[in-house]
Amino acid sequence: MIEKFEPVSEVSGELYFDGDKSISHRTLIFSAMAEGESVIRNINRGLDVRSTMDCLRQLGAEIADDGDQVLVRGVGFRGFRQPELELNAGNSGTTARLLSGLLSVQNFPSTLIGDESLSKRPMKRVCEPLRLMGAQIKTTNGFLPVSFFPSEEISHIKFEMNIPSAQVKTALVLAGLHIEEDTIITEPAGSRDHTEKMLGLPVRATDNGNLILVNKSFYPVKNNYFVPGDISSASFFIVLGLLAENSNLLIKNVLLNTQRIAFISHLQKMGAKITLIQKDISAGEPYGDIRVESSTLQNIELSGNEIPMLIDEIPVLSVAALFSEGKFILKDAHELRVKESDRINSVVVNLRKLGLEVDESNDGFSFSPGFNIKTEPVFETFGDHRIAMTFVILSVLLKDGAKINNLGIVKISNPEFFNQLKSISR
Ligand code: S3P
Repeated sequence: MIEKFEPVSEVSGELYFDGDKSISHRTLIFSAMAEGESVIRNINRGLDVRSTMDCLRQLGAEIADDGDQVLVRGVGFRGFRQPELELNAGNSGTTARLLSGLLSVQNFPSTLIGDESLSKRPMKRVCEPLRLMGAQIKTTNGFLPVSFFPSEEISHIKFEMNIPSAQVKTALVLAGLHIEEDTIITEPAGSRDHTEKMLGLPVRATDNGNLILVNKSFYPVKNNYFVPGDISSASFFIVLGLLAENSNLLIKNVLLNTQRIAFISHLQKMGAKITLIQKDISAGEPYGDIRVESSTLQNIELSGNEIPMLIDEIPVLSVAALFSEGKFILKDAHELRVKESDRINSVVVNLRKLGLEVDESNDGFSFSPGFNIKTEPVFETFGDHRIAMTFVILSVLLKDGAKINNLGIVKISNPEFFNQLKSISR
């Protein structure tokens, strides 16, 4: 279905977000692994987190959701049971990658499957290091379906990751939690560090990047979690608030993890008027409020070690770039090609619908400001929730609005997106 979005002249008011998606997946997995009952408040209500919940139920965790809080009765060390069916990760890369770490150390066989998009995303990056630990895994040419078989011996490894990926890192940590000896993981550049924070893992900075240590003594115990608001869901509204005229937006109780707010630091360097007010810490994670005011922005290059920390916000940052002064250059972002869609191509195809000249390269794209719309754009979502939200934001910023199709996909991470947009638009 195609929908038309009319321009907004002002955004103001307060916004609250359901819990951060990355942290929600982890609270569920750690609670299911722990012995006894854990409580999770403000869990993310998107379909991805639902996929993790369903898979963990099939593995024997009891999960009750009363719509307010989620109660998880965990199975304890080595307490998972063989699932009767294949485990379906749906659209969720985090579910597939994280559960791979857990399934590869079980003494029963299991198979992970996913939807069409997830079945095109690489699993080799997770399976290869897990095989080095002794895991018996069969992939489908490096992709899903992936089957796990009991292994005679799982042992600790020292592994240098060549791609900075929080999903790969966490899969190895989840396997390493089942081994007495130290598993040591080095990552070339910092990716999101929720797993390390939530489990209290030792992390040391070295010349080759961060070194993370894990062993069985860090196995999760039952907990009472409050998941701070999803900062990646908030990023769309932060960019809208900066670019709309006369904005004054207050975003409440969102995650302020330094790595996850790298996109805010980037926007501030571009001239954004964003104020952060830290309030508290939950599960090792700082959270608080963010005030956003209309701003005039200047483009700066987006490249290097900064990329893994703002990987999910690059599509919406390209909208900020479109309304900023100076040339926009994105480099070193190959990883965007293997997300829910090929996000380099998805953004480039949509931006060209504005009559904008965009140069696409293997690892990014660049453009100079100034576009000239000849026919009303109809943006594509490419079945990707973040591309959908990015181009809704762009649509409401265009003088005559724009159309976009297949918007149901926003439910993957933020089912409240349209209500939130309506509540702050004037
Ligand atoms: C995630 C890690 C990121 C991110 C994804 C969620 C996580 O992927 O893109 O949406 O929860 O660990 P990487 O594996 O590229 O870091």
